This record gives sequence, structure tokens and C-alpha cells, in this order.
Amino acid sequence: MNLGITIIKGRRSIRKYKDEPIPQEAIEQAMECARMAPTARNGQPWLFGVTTDSKILEKLGELASHGKFIADAPACFAIFGLRDEKFYLEDCCAATSSLILGLWAYGISSCWVAGDKMDYNEDVRKLMKVPPEYTLVSLIPAGYPALGERMVAPVKKPFEKVTFKDTYTQ
Ligand SMILES: Cc1cc2nc3c(=O)[nH]c(=O)nc-3n(C[C@H](O)[C@H](O)[C@H](O)COP(=O)(O)O)c2cc1C
Repeated sequence: MNLGITIIKGRRSIRKYKDEPIPQEAIEQAMECARMAPTARNGQPWLFGVTTDSKILEKLGELASHGKFIADAPACFAIFGLRDEKFYLEDCCAATSSLILGLWAYGISSCWVAGDKMDYNEDVRKLMKVPPEYTLVSLIPAGYPALGERMVAPVKKPFEKVTFKDTYTQ
């Protein structure tokens, strides 16, 4: 299998990380991957933040009801979209995926933590001092996987159940 496919298929959501900083190069390249993602009409309606500040990480962990583990991550990315742009959600989700895969290309694991539909999104925006025209789409805590974290795929729907060629038949 080629390297790109191996990286993409090997990604897993990991929620426990080693107490070890992630290299600046990986941070920058992951954000570069996000910046290069496709967008409707090439609108690029986004802002990419990252924090390694333990106080901000702790606060993010308190705010994100399904992302308490952010508090113990060495870094967390935050992807914000311009809320009045029609395709901000699709665009920012494409960027989120690219960012996660960019990290994984360095062996750095992460986990998508919901933002757009969550009632804490405004609190996160204010905490990170992001202007009100943006809204939180996703939080991505990241770090090297903690010892014992298993890179095992959760059950995925079978290929033949979720794909079709030409026209769908049951
Ligand atoms: C839009 C979206 C929101 C998610 N939100 C959370 C979340 O808030 N907390 C969490 O622990 N995992 C979250 N996840 C991660 C999923 O639980 C995970 O992707 C899924 O269980 C499949 O596992 P895998 O990523 O290892 O393939 C989210 C994933 C997506 C795509």
C-alpha cells in the first residue's frame, strides 16, 4: 500500500497522550495542511488556533462536555469558521480532517471534539479571544499516544454496505 493510504487508514481517535510536547514543525505543518484544504468557491472562511498553555487547555477541558481529556493534552487546535459564510461548516470540516491527518503523518494522535453544535462554542471563542464573526467548528487535542493506547480501529460499517457504483441497490 502507498504511504498516503497507510497514513489515512491508520488514523484513530486517541484521547490519552504522553506528557511530551509536540514539535513546532508538526504544529505548523498540520496547520498548513488545514490551510490547504478545499473550500467552496475557494472562500477559506476560517481561522486556525493552537494552544499549548496549560491554563487554557484546562479551561477548554472544563468547557467541552465531551472533551474533558483536552485538559491533559500537550496541545489543542481550535478551528473557527466565518458564521455568515454559506459553506463554513463543510469547509472547516475539510480543514479539520486535513489537520488531523497532517498530525498523524508525524505520528501524533488526536481526537475531533465537537464544536459547531455545542452550547460551549461561544465560551471557547471568548476564551481564545476570537472575534464574534467566527464560530467554533472543532477542537482537536493532540499528542503522542500514551503507552497502552491501542491503535485499533473501532468497528466500521462494511465496505459493501456503505459504497455503491453507478446506482444504489439494496
Ligand atoms: C464531528 C465529530 C465530532 C466528534 N466529537 C467528539 C467529542 O466531542 N468527543 C470525543 O471524545 N470524540 C468525538 N469525536 C470522535 C468520534 O467519537 C470518533 O471519530 C469515532 O468514534 C470513530 O473512531 P475513530 O476516529 O477512531 O475512527 C467526534 C468526531 C467527529 C467527526
